[in-house]
Amino acid sequence: MTANRNFKINLLPGDGIGVDVVREGVRVMEALARKTGGISFSFNTLPWSCEYYLNHGRMMPADGLKILADCDSILLGAVGFPGVPDHISLRELLLPIRVEFDQYVNMRPIKLLPGLESPIKSDKIDFVVVRENSEGEYCGRGSFNKQETPEEYTIQESIFTRKGTERIIRYAFEYAERNGLNQVMSATKSNALNYSMVFWDKIFAEIQKQFPKIQSRQMHIDALAGFFIMHPERLQVVVASNLFGDILTDLGSAMLGSIGISPSGNINPERRFPSMFEPIHGSAPDIAGKGIANPIGTFWAIAMMLEQLGLSDENALLMSAMCDVLAEGKIRTPDIGGSSTTTEVSDAVIAMIEKR
Ligand code: NAD
Ligand code: IPM
Ligand code: MN
Repeated sequence: MTANRNFKINLLPGDGIGVDVVREGVRVMEALARKTGGISFSFNTLPWSCEYYLNHGRMMPADGLKILADCDSILLGAVGFPGVPDHISLRELLLPIRVEFDQYVNMRPIKLLPGLESPIKSDKIDFVVVRENSEGEYCGRGSFNKQETPEEYTIQESIFTRKGTERIIRYAFEYAERNGLNQVMSATKSNALNYSMVFWDKIFAEIQKQFPKIQSRQMHIDALAGFFIMHPERLQVVVASNLFGDILTDLGSAMLGSIGISPSGNINPERRFPSMFEPIHGSAPDIAGKGIANPIGTFWAIAMMLEQLGLSDENALLMSAMCDVLAEGKIRTPDIGGSSTTTEVSDAVIAMIEKR
């Protein structure tokens, strides 16, 4: 008999629908552990959120990152809510985790799941966006100048380091190689961004030489956004800077039927720090408290977490249970044309897991 393996998961439900989808995600993980046996999860919920900010004047305690680091993996719901400016809530919680835990790869699969209908014509949508997650346009540097004068101006800087750019582009090529794919598409904008993206293109050209079997392409981000809609079937791996990858993946998730579908893995490939998994969507204040948030993006993010923890069977079980529920077409939330609640979707996924 194999020993029980326990995994410690730190939960950051955050704000709005983040709380609902993480609660349902925990139920699904517990069902998986019950079903497969031999594993268990210990969950530790951290209440850091905009509500926490309003009570404590900060998004997390001073030693928050130290507390958070003590786990096998992190599951995040969403951060940000009216009442706290977004640049404060995100810059004090989500973004420091990505940077300080060196989660420099943000993996975002864009794959049309069975039973879901894309708003665009193509039915072959199956690619990944490898988003740079630690620097670039998100470096947070800049200044407000000559405030409250007619000459007022602001500067928002971007930092693209050789190390940061090389490692994300190399990761994209290696991902392609590992998964038997033969194309990497780089998102650029070197026609207008004459420093950052010229540099990005130079590094892309250097790295691609090391992967002669993989076809490399590049497109300006504006043209690429159009290409997503017109020819998604021609995409396999897209590598993008922090901001470009952010925008492209909300577009990508919408192509799958809803912003509530796509998952996001903030990965530290060297495993010096825990990785963090989350749906790509935000706290959705417009539907918060209504119990109708789509939990599929969170379940898919959990599946990515299980894979990263080496739990391939659990990953496969969750993905197939989730896909079967979607394919049946009976239980789904309003954003994808149904009338079910968040909890009804989890109940259906759990029942499917138990039936196996
Ligand atoms: P959002 O993703 O929260 O919502 C955009 C639209 O999509 C809304 O109409 C919302 O109802 C809908 N939607 C999102 N997720 C859904 C789901 N699971 N099921 C059904 N419908 C869903 O984006 P926003 O409105 O730009 O941002 C709201 C807040 O969330 C802001 O504070 C923002 O900064 C924050 N945010 C946080 C994260 C994160 O923590 N990872 C990501 C994006 C936005
Ligand atoms: C995401 C979100 C975040 C980002 C925001 C909330 C800072 O949009 O995870 O996609 O831009 O990375
Ligand atoms: Mn985003």
